[in-house]
Amino acid sequence: MNRRQFLQTGSGVVSGILLLKPKVAFGYDANSAVRHGLLGCGNRGTSVATSFAQNTSAQVVALADLFADNLAAGRANFDKLNASLGRPAIDSKMLFHGPHAFEQLAASKDIDLIQISTPPFFHVQHLDAAVASGKHVYCEKPVGIDVKQAKQALEIAKRVKPGQSVDVGFQCRNAPPIAAIAEKIKAGALGKIATATGNYNAPASTEKKREGESQDEYRLRNWLWDRALSGDILVEQNIHIIDLCNWMVGAKPLKASATGGRNILTHFGDCWDNYQVDFTYPGDVHFSFASTQFGSDGVFDAGLKLFGASGSATIPYAGPIAITGANKWSWQESEGTAAGSGQFAANGAFSDNLAFADRDKERTFIASITSGPAHNQIADGVDTALSCMLGRMAGLQKREVSWEDLLAHGETYQLGFSLGQFA
Ligand SMILES: NC(=O)c1ccc[n+]([C@@H]2O[C@H](COP(=O)([O-])OP(=O)(O)OC[C@H]3O[C@@H](n4cnc5c(N)ncnc54)[C@H](O)[C@@H]3O)[C@@H](O)[C@H]2O)c1
Repeated sequence: MNRRQFLQTGSGVVSGILLLKPKVAFGYDANSAVRHGLLGCGNRGTSVATSFAQNTSAQVVALADLFADNLAAGRANFDKLNASLGRPAIDSKMLFHGPHAFEQLAASKDIDLIQISTPPFFHVQHLDAAVASGKHVYCEKPVGIDVKQAKQALEIAKRVKPGQSVDVGFQCRNAPPIAAIAEKIKAGALGKIATATGNYNAPASTEKKREGESQDEYRLRNWLWDRALSGDILVEQNIHIIDLCNWMVGAKPLKASATGGRNILTHFGDCWDNYQVDFTYPGDVHFSFASTQFGSDGVFDAGLKLFGASGSATIPYAGPIAITGANKWSWQESEGTAAGSGQFAANGAFSDNLAFADRDKERTFIASITSGPAHNQIADGVDTALSCMLGRMAGLQKREVSWEDLLAHGETYQLGFSLGQFA
């Protein structure tokens, strides 16, 4: 199968603006802009908001960030982008910075959609304000870094209003080859699934340093190295593969045992640089997952393999995506590509099998706003975040941990300082 054929089956996630009904459920005209406010003008936030602007009817009209320099960089970037798209520059009244920026953005009457692209520790707090404001929300993964936040997110999910759409940033599900193979697997192409393996091997992230900054500011800017702020590599980044496994197996893990540690990294922070997790799903299906995050040799390799009674499925970020056995199938455009040949993209904008993931995710989300039905992906996002926390807790405590044990005794994290100092 190739991309054209997948789109023609009608099952692909293609809904571009042209496919929308002309007059729609929430008062939007199919051709009018969804007014978009970005919270967190960093790497990923900028990449996703740019892609929204280029691929959907969303228009960036507001920006918010804790730090004035990041807000200013965001403003320069989006004014240039808006000009290139024939749209006005952002009104200075629509720029918010400081610890209350997220509340000011949420209070604005002049936006329809809030994109939350702040560090993971803040997602649930920001989601709470955004959902309470009644605006549509695109929230980056993970939905929570600890059990307390995850439970709070489930309460927030109940407060999503009819017609209000909330997406979580698992764009890999929308990558056309991954969406296509998931459809085959869910239709039974592998027969009974026996076991799965997965990996996420990524390079180290680079340090961000500013002259004269305090230790708290340094920590916030290097949140990727800090377990409380990021959730650790399993919860923050490896989550994409664990999400694909949950989705394709159609369940969440019952328990996990794990090992790992910090064998290479010596810089600031407490995130581990490797994890090995054995997740047990219902039916004694084991998912063996391993990850590394260190080094600067450019090696990047992530993917999932599922093994069933009738065949196996290989789903890498880069390399051939295929099903073997009784229901042989492959994604033509990935045939002949080399496994593990992908380039790491810190902003999540990958150019391999994920090339159209963001675009299709954003189009589907905007369609849910302009023509419905509205999404509410919070509970699903929480399940995946908790699955990762299960692996993290098993690793940190060096013992088998069940889902119930996690919910009852899962560790909690504090920021340990006030953001008031950045007002
Ligand atoms: N889906 C993906 O593939 C993908 C890829 C990369 C990152 N992400 C996620 O996107 C989020 C952002 O990651 P990033 O790489 O852009 O980080 P980043 O550090 O580049 O950007 C974060 C921005 O948030 C701002 N910020 C920090 N705390 C804030 C607060 N309390 N209130 C308002 N603004 C605040 C920072 O100043 C910065 O501009 C993270 O949750 C990360 O896990 C997802």
